[in-house]
Amino acid sequence: MTVGEKVGQLNLVTAGQIVTGPSGSGDVLANIRAGNVGGVFNIWGRESVAAMQRAAVEESRLGAPLFFGLDVLHGFRTIFPVPLAEAGAFDPYLWEETARAAAEEAAAEGIDLTFAPMLDVCRDPRWGRIVEGAGEDPLVAAKFAQAKIRGFQGSGLSSRVAIAATGKHFCGGGAAQAGRDYAAVDMSDRELHETYLPPFAAAVAAGCAAIMPAFNSLAGIPLTAHGALINGWLREKHGFDGVVISDYTAIVELVQHGVAADEVEAAALALKAGVDMDMVSGCYLRLPEALSRGLVAEADIDAAVRRVLALKEKLGLLVDPTLRLTPARSPHKRWNELALDAARRSVVLLTNRGVLPLAANIRRLAVIGPLADASAEMLGPWSAAGDPAKAVTTLHALRAAWTQGELLHHRGVDIESDDASGIDAARALCATADVVVLCLGESAGMSGEAASRAMPGLPGRQRELAEAVLSAGPPVVLVLSAGRPLMVANLIEQAAAVVASWQLGDRAGDAIADLLLGRINPSGRLAVTWPREIGQIPIHYAQRSTGRPPQSTDPFTSKYLDAPNDPLFPFGHGLSFASVSLKNLRATPAEFDEGAPVRIEIDVSNNGKVATEETIFLFLHDIVASVARPMMELKEWTKVTLQPGETRTVFFLLDGKHFEFLDRTLVPVVEAGDFEVMVGVNADSNSALRTRIRLPAAAISARDR
Ligand code: IFM
Repeated sequence: MTVGEKVGQLNLVTAGQIVTGPSGSGDVLANIRAGNVGGVFNIWGRESVAAMQRAAVEESRLGAPLFFGLDVLHGFRTIFPVPLAEAGAFDPYLWEETARAAAEEAAAEGIDLTFAPMLDVCRDPRWGRIVEGAGEDPLVAAKFAQAKIRGFQGSGLSSRVAIAATGKHFCGGGAAQAGRDYAAVDMSDRELHETYLPPFAAAVAAGCAAIMPAFNSLAGIPLTAHGALINGWLREKHGFDGVVISDYTAIVELVQHGVAADEVEAAALALKAGVDMDMVSGCYLRLPEALSRGLVAEADIDAAVRRVLALKEKLGLLVDPTLRLTPARSPHKRWNELALDAARRSVVLLTNRGVLPLAANIRRLAVIGPLADASAEMLGPWSAAGDPAKAVTTLHALRAAWTQGELLHHRGVDIESDDASGIDAARALCATADVVVLCLGESAGMSGEAASRAMPGLPGRQRELAEAVLSAGPPVVLVLSAGRPLMVANLIEQAAAVVASWQLGDRAGDAIADLLLGRINPSGRLAVTWPREIGQIPIHYAQRSTGRPPQSTDPFTSKYLDAPNDPLFPFGHGLSFASVSLKNLRATPAEFDEGAPVRIEIDVSNNGKVATEETIFLFLHDIVASVARPMMELKEWTKVTLQPGETRTVFFLLDGKHFEFLDRTLVPVVEAGDFEVMVGVNADSNSALRTRIRLPAAAISARDR
């Protein structure tokens, strides 16, 4: 290979219609023929992909095949719930299954690699990208990562139904200053290693084929040039041997960050830090100049090229460049059913003052609001080749499913415009109804990349519409469709019931209607704390203790003058139509012995009239340790299905790993002492059942004593 051909392999270009950055990639076919391209993204379809692959294999001197990438986050043609919603199903089998379906569909149209899963832990709903991840908890994000990677990559990358996964964005972007996308991140090493890196360690352990560094800087060092994290933490410490692919134009942005003087220096910095492929910026095509300036060695280029070619080999492309295109496959009917199942298990019932399920004697049902019949918005951001016209809306689904009376509809206002002229008519219609279903929220484009919001409430004139509808008389079921928790506490408190419907994908409306009509018993839970006020952000359940815990009688304690500390809804919150109680939490033995795990058991009873699926969470608190530990840390969860009147005992096994934390030098340790075990249906510490486990010094391995 010539040096030119080598750097060509490191160049990833965009083609097609999706634009997520300031520049495109010019004449892609000409560049492929000239040997300047190693991979292409944002294009799919048998003919287009085959034509480009032919140009690479038959018309370039080297003849190396390309790989084709795309952001397949929550479906390719069949669109499943956005990751933040699907995380709330707390079901790794579902997470894996939807990724498998997406991989199979995408592969059939020539996609070899997805820029997913997104592994950013996020505790700030202002950040638009919160929608793309699994929420606020590192354990959930780690399990989500592994399930998605299993789903995308299957049992081997050379299969024509598997695609390579890319864990992104490495790392810390979820803590962007003030929730602003691309903004700088600064956090303690402890926070980084305890909270933001574990999902990436899990991804590497699961064999994730690629990693994408984040756009942001971390304590002044842009991740695209962060050798200590990419070469050090990722490759040396965790043994990652896959490909590191930059984000869109992130390499040239090193100049804008102020750490490189020009494109050549930027290319050298990124390559030296361990970034193998350059997405769109074209800087790596200037690596020959970096070579002659002495900024990189040819061995640095060779190492990156080897990793890119190794990925192509693993993908089976060196043997058969059109592996995934042969033979043609028709779409799987089952995926549409899976989209419904996933949507049903992701939708969250936030409040219910008895109005749901809708009663059989309702005769006039009003379905109001700009999200009632907006199919494109049901898909959410990054909906790949999904068909916005195909998604089922709430109005559509209710028209089909609710046949007991008259269904009234008024859009009221637009999602975002300033036009309030429909509010009076909508209110008048509501006044004639028995119950109102009010569908409000965000458009799909209001979350995702470059979609941060300083005021994550209802956009446009929707608040006025809500106030008018709430004052009309009939009970109002508020359905909030959004890519983040919306801060509308006041409206939530006034509504007779509230449903968080996120962006549930192709079958969104069906799942929402099923919940409203009681055809399903909701089991979705919040994977992220829902704040009352913007001023509470960043907010999450795993707060560290303080020397002055809040006390209502003492002003000199940690609290606000003008808002409670508690969120509106805790992590894990979600109602069902059943009534569940937890009793009899016990630990056996109550003293940990390194040789055997502690068995935690609890009895869960369904006191309601319908079968229910509950998620039971186990949290630990290390009461006295060499470093102040969070008051609650999620260590395990399980799901249990209960028939009416049934009681089942669920159990968890805790071993040494569960008690581990990073000591003052960030080395993992287990320390002797007492641990509080909290088991509950969410992270509300007041309602959790508690017991204690003792770790005697004698039970701790020599390493930790
Ligand atoms: O994969 C994405 C990334 O998450 C954000 N910038 C654009 C990339 C490619 O579309």
